[in-house]
Amino acid sequence: MESRSLPGVVAAVVFFLSTMALPAAAAVVEHTFVVSQMNMAHLCKETLVTVVNGQLPGPSIEVTEGDSVAVHVVNKSPYNITIHWHGVKQRLNCWADGVPMITQCPILPNHNFTYRFNVTGQEGTLWWHAHVPCLRATLHGALIIRPRHGPSSYPFPKPDREIPIVIGEWWQVDLALVDWRLRHYLADYIPSASTINGKLGDLYNCSGVMEDGYVLDMEPGKTYLLRVINAALFSEYYFKIAGHKFTVVATGANYVSPYTTDVVPIAPGETMDVLVVADAAPGRYYMVALPNQSPKPEPQSPVLITRGTVQYSNNHSPSNGEAALSSYREKGGAGGPSGDVPVTPEMPDQHDRMTSFYFHGNLTSLHHSQRLPVPAQVDEHLFITLGMGSVCRQGQSCRRSGSDESIVVATMNNFTFQPPTAMTSLLEAHYYNSGTMDTLQQLPDAPPRVFNFTDPALIPEGPKEAQLEPTSKATLARRFRYGAAVELVFQGTAMMQSESNPMHLHGHDMFVLAQGLGNYDAARDVARYNLVDPPVLNTVQVPSLGWVAVRFVTDNPGIWYMHCHYEFHLSMGMTALFIVEDGPTFDTSLPPPPANFPACGNDNNHVPDQFYLQTRKSEVSHIYGG
Ligand code: C2O
Repeated sequence: MESRSLPGVVAAVVFFLSTMALPAAAAVVEHTFVVSQMNMAHLCKETLVTVVNGQLPGPSIEVTEGDSVAVHVVNKSPYNITIHWHGVKQRLNCWADGVPMITQCPILPNHNFTYRFNVTGQEGTLWWHAHVPCLRATLHGALIIRPRHGPSSYPFPKPDREIPIVIGEWWQVDLALVDWRLRHYLADYIPSASTINGKLGDLYNCSGVMEDGYVLDMEPGKTYLLRVINAALFSEYYFKIAGHKFTVVATGANYVSPYTTDVVPIAPGETMDVLVVADAAPGRYYMVALPNQSPKPEPQSPVLITRGTVQYSNNHSPSNGEAALSSYREKGGAGGPSGDVPVTPEMPDQHDRMTSFYFHGNLTSLHHSQRLPVPAQVDEHLFITLGMGSVCRQGQSCRRSGSDESIVVATMNNFTFQPPTAMTSLLEAHYYNSGTMDTLQQLPDAPPRVFNFTDPALIPEGPKEAQLEPTSKATLARRFRYGAAVELVFQGTAMMQSESNPMHLHGHDMFVLAQGLGNYDAARDVARYNLVDPPVLNTVQVPSLGWVAVRFVTDNPGIWYMHCHYEFHLSMGMTALFIVEDGPTFDTSLPPPPANFPACGNDNNHVPDQFYLQTRKSEVSHIYGG
């Protein structure tokens, strides 16, 4: 169903270097990413999409811990592009973090740039994506880090096969337009389907032609390591395979104590490594990804479930998934090897938020040699409320509560992020000590008012929250000295919505000490902190109407994005910058920018201005009301 072309040549060249100084061979893993546009057809409609090397999902990068990576990005798209290596710590290498106008000027159309970074002290699944709002829906892929001493040093039974499972969305609109509208506070587009490894699956059809689904062939008795990635813009998913259990062994490229479950909740930005043993009766089983959403009174989106199939092959020679599906079609679409319809898993309700809450709360880190100690003392405390607020269209005072005089924005402590508009990246301004840094606004330690943050009466827009709404727009940042132990409490609020918030911090992992529903209360909740074996994550799912407490150490100088990984929250301003100062030594200081670092163009945000604004409050947002 997909029309495919290969606009560029995929170069994946691995040079093995061995020096006498290094006991294990470190390699440079090299890729060329050609970013270009192509038409893909789904649901009887051709859509122009921006992809890497003609693939959706894009190519997987596979490395061994300790390797270096070089990715040559060739931008043949009409957009400014950056690529972010989600979860890669980039120690002393903030320049390669790929955040436009923050860590670098974007790669302009018809320009190239090579990202170089090392992958050290992390094992498991991460991923890469464009950090261009919305375009990441089609510009993403897996980044797989295997242990240096080979798969036999996994801290779990060696899997027979490893399979990336990328959950995403299929959009039938121009994603640059979606972004433009989101940034103008018009959340009026939604995806047309969810996908597993780029396939929509047989729940979607048009004119009676079913969409292809992803097919995973399993041999009885074998163990599979699924590297599940949520690359979607909008939703947390529940992922299940009928008749099978999962053992979660890692998340965010950090090992966890093996945790057995039949459902894996996964929020945007999260990655989960799960083992599945083919121990069911030979047959066919649906693999289902269901997006969850907050219940009413929040506006409801259509539930875009996607499914693929797990099928047992008895001949011990895994067949090609496409071939298997077409032979299934030829048999009338009714059954697998035995002619039966695949077994369907029983999914959680689309409004179930507790399955995610308990799952995330049950994760603990695995004891192993690379595990870092949890900071016992804290130097800085921050309490950050997450929710919606409003800014006046004009001036300082205006009517709120959905009035046309104000605009709804996403907030942290009643600030909403304004991207910097300089002619250079902020990191360059920081490094060269230029004046642009003076325009930053300090992220306050706490919200301006304390109220019952999770009072459900605040969910619908109304007079009750009008006094809590006022928000300022600024380039929000927080400076930390090198080596500070920071405790951050993210408090979800009911301000005009009750979404969860998958909060992602670049350049650092966070120890997740505790989570709870309702309002955080230090007097009660500090006693519940897990300081022994907390999970270590780069993206922490802050539960709907609840909170999460994390700690991390600012051991990586640079400017690091900290944001919600829901694209609508990110585009609407739920972002801040964490600036980590240089330490006292060479080894604790940010080196100079790499050679051939991109320069900014005239149009750094590259707003496609042919998309004019048609503001009608009534047509705005079925996602968070309006
Ligand atoms: Cu995957 Cu700044 O994000």
